[in-house]
This record gives sequence, C-alpha cells and structure tokens, in this order.
Amino acid sequence: MKRMITLDTEKMPRAWYNALVDLPKPLEPPLNPATGKPLGPQDLEPLFPPALIEQEMSQEPWIAIPLEVLEVYALWRPTPLYRARGLERALNTPARIYYKYEGASPAGSHKPNTAVAQAYYNAISGIRRLTTETGAGQWGSALSFATRFFGLECTVYMVRVSYDQKPYRRSMMEVWGGTVHPSPSDRTQTGRSVLEKDPSNPGSLGLAISEAVEDAVTHEDTHYSLGSVLNHVLLHQTVIGLEAKEQLAQVGEYPDVVIGCCGGGSNLGGIALPFLPDKASGKEVRLVAVEPKACPTLTKGAFTYDFGDMARMTPLLKMYTLGHSFMPPSIHAGGLRYHGDSPIISLLVREGVMEATAYYQREVFQAGILFARSEGFIPAPETNHAIKAAIDEAVKAREEGKEKVVLFNFSGHGLLDLSAYDAYFKGDLQDYELADEEIKRALAELEKLAVR
Ligand SMILES: Cc1ncc(COP(=O)(O)O)c(C=O)c1O
Repeated sequence: MKRMITLDTEKMPRAWYNALVDLPKPLEPPLNPATGKPLGPQDLEPLFPPALIEQEMSQEPWIAIPLEVLEVYALWRPTPLYRARGLERALNTPARIYYKYEGASPAGSHKPNTAVAQAYYNAISGIRRLTTETGAGQWGSALSFATRFFGLECTVYMVRVSYDQKPYRRSMMEVWGGTVHPSPSDRTQTGRSVLEKDPSNPGSLGLAISEAVEDAVTHEDTHYSLGSVLNHVLLHQTVIGLEAKEQLAQVGEYPDVVIGCCGGGSNLGGIALPFLPDKASGKEVRLVAVEPKACPTLTKGAFTYDFGDMARMTPLLKMYTLGHSFMPPSIHAGGLRYHGDSPIISLLVREGVMEATAYYQREVFQAGILFARSEGFIPAPETNHAIKAAIDEAVKAREEGKEKVVLFNFSGHGLLDLSAYDAYFKGDLQDYELADEEIKRALAELEKLAVR
C-alpha cells in the first residue's frame, strides 16, 4: 500500500524548464512605468542581477541549476509525492489523488525553490542586501532562510494584516536573520503617504511591493526580490512539476488534471508548466488554477497592462488584474490576496490552455480540515484552495463512475496558520465575494492608464 513516492537525491532535476518556449503565443513585453515603452534589460538593472534578467527573457528551453543552488535544494529536495489514499477513502471515489508535498522545505512551502536561486544570483553579482514583500509570511521566511546561505541581509515588508495575524512567521524570519517591518511602514515615502490618509490601513501585497521596491532603488548595494509573478520565479518552481512527473512515472501514472492554487502563479506554474510540452503534442491533461472569490483575478479580472504595485513603480505587465489600487478583503489566505497574476499563467488562461476557478473561504477551510483528518498534514490556507478543487474533481469522478488521476500541489503546511483554523471553528470566518460593482470600480482605474 504505497503512500509516499520518493526520488533519490541524484534524480533531482539539474535544469529548470523554461515555459516561454512552449507558450501558444509570445508574451507581450513588459513596459517601462515612466515611458510606457517596452522594457530593455537595462531598465531592470536597479532591481535584479544580470542572470535573473536574462532568465526573465530567455528562449533557452532548459536552464542549468547552479551546483550551489542544488546543494541547498538537497536539504529537502526531491520532495515526496503522496498518494492521498486516506482522502480517497473519505470521498469514496474511484479517482486516484496525488499531491506533491512542498511543505517539506525548512520554511514550510514551495517558496524557497526560487528564494535560494535568487539569493545565489544576487550574491555572485556583489549585492549586499535584498528587500522584499510578504503576504502570509511564507515568502519572507523563505527569503530570510535563503539569504542566510549566501551571506546577504534581508529586509521584509510584511502586509500589516498578516503581521498581526501571524506573529510566528515574523519570529521565523528573525531566527534566520531577516528584518521585518509591517507595511504600510514609515520607512518609505509610499508607506508614509498611505499612513497619513489611513493610519489603520491593513496593507496589501501591491503596497508592500511598492515599499520594498522603493527601498531597493534608493540603495546602491540593494536589490529587490519578488516571490511570484515573474517568469524567472515560475522557472525556478518547475522543479516541482519535473519531479512529480518522474515520481508518477515510477508508479505508472499520468495525470488527467493538474491543480494549483494561484496567488501570483508560482506554485501553480511550478507544478503545471512542465506538462505544457505534452499538452502541445496532443496529450490530454487539464491544468487548473484555483483562486479565492474574494480576490478573483483570473475569473473576474481584466486581461490588460497594469502595474504590479500600488505606487506604480514596477514595470507594466500584460496580465489578468483587478487593478493595482484594488484592496482585497482580509481573508486568511494572505498569499492569494494579489490584484494581478503571472503573465505566463494569464496568457495560458486567456488562450484556453489552462482553466481557472474560484471558491469561498469557508468551503476551502472545510476541504483543508477533511484533508488533515484523512491525510494527517495540516495545509496552509492557500493550499486549501487546491485541495478543494482536487476534492471536487474526485467527487465528480465518483458521480460519473469514472477513474481519474488527480495531481495537486501541496504548496505549504499550515502549522503557523492555526489562528485561521481557530477562527473557522469559532464561526468567525466570513465568505467574501467581490461584488461586480466593486470590480467595475477597480477596473475603471485601469481605463485611465495610457497603455492598454
Ligand atoms: C503556501 C502558499 N501557497 C501558495 C501561495 C501563493 O503564491 P503563488 O501563487 O506564487 O504560488 C503562497 C503565497 O504566499 C503560499 O504561501
């Protein structure tokens, strides 16, 4: 009764898969926020090291993973793939459900897969400090962990609502040597101007990004690091899907459907993108993005150019967006409260290569609790979105009397999210659905942008 499917360290992928070469059409270029003209590599130099800028635009199908990065990956990779036998029994389904357990990393999620790579490339280009934003605290802890291995300092702007909800994430970052500020903070122009208008502003990822970018561009020895959205981030995450394919092949399986929750798109990209070449050559495999109804970027947003941050400092990206001024409700899946999405994921959804679906907060927690009670692992609130979609696929298989292989990414554990589970048990969680009126208002802001 095999439940855990492992891979030897020697079988760890030696190269990341670059999905840019297999997209149904080329991505539209990122635009300079000041001029509205396509970005050149030099525009990104104040923020990123040369290797990451190259990866952002690379047309190489495979990019070798440096040995120094592999050595850190080897602390927890390859991660196990589990057959969810307990969940299958609980659902009485003919579906075979598999999950890739990214909760195994020291920080507890998939985020270190790119944090380690980004810290490495910045260190070898002579950078002394990295700044970043964090929502749920997973990304900030991943970068605090990763910078440790390459002698860099790490400054994290943590969305105020998560800073208050998740004090132990801050403790983790500090254990690894990171410095954490609640965002909005009084350390940046952007933060100060928001606080002036609204001293109790709960913050958002878009705002925290503005603060981290401002901090980086105003300091010569400092770069900025983004935990999702960008092409190079999704690239680094492809180790997830590459390993999962190998592990499924070991047990003679191939998925009918591949599922990931989607905030900025990195864990979803990580598990799903390595299936693109198969899909292009005619294999039937569905790819599914899952998001909260409270922040329905892919399911209700507009596909257009928008800024990645609130203060309009980042390049304009062509993506699904709810508008950069959109302030999502304070749901517990902090990592899914982002107004935009990865351009790669956005294009795949736009072109019908990937599906997108959205759920309420409470049904998602209910799914996570069923999972914890049948599989043991306690998932992060973000991960619960993928679990809910996997359960729905398995229930449908039962109703249709069909066998089906479901693969989903278990993006992180929820051991530091127990206050959210408490709130669920107490009946304090609310189901938010963004009213169409509100979406219209947020999108109207975008109409005013010169570039569309
Ligand atoms: C556990 C977990 N899953 C998923 C996400 C969503 O991010 P992404 O869409 O980049 O994978 C986050 C973000 O913080 C996270 O912490």
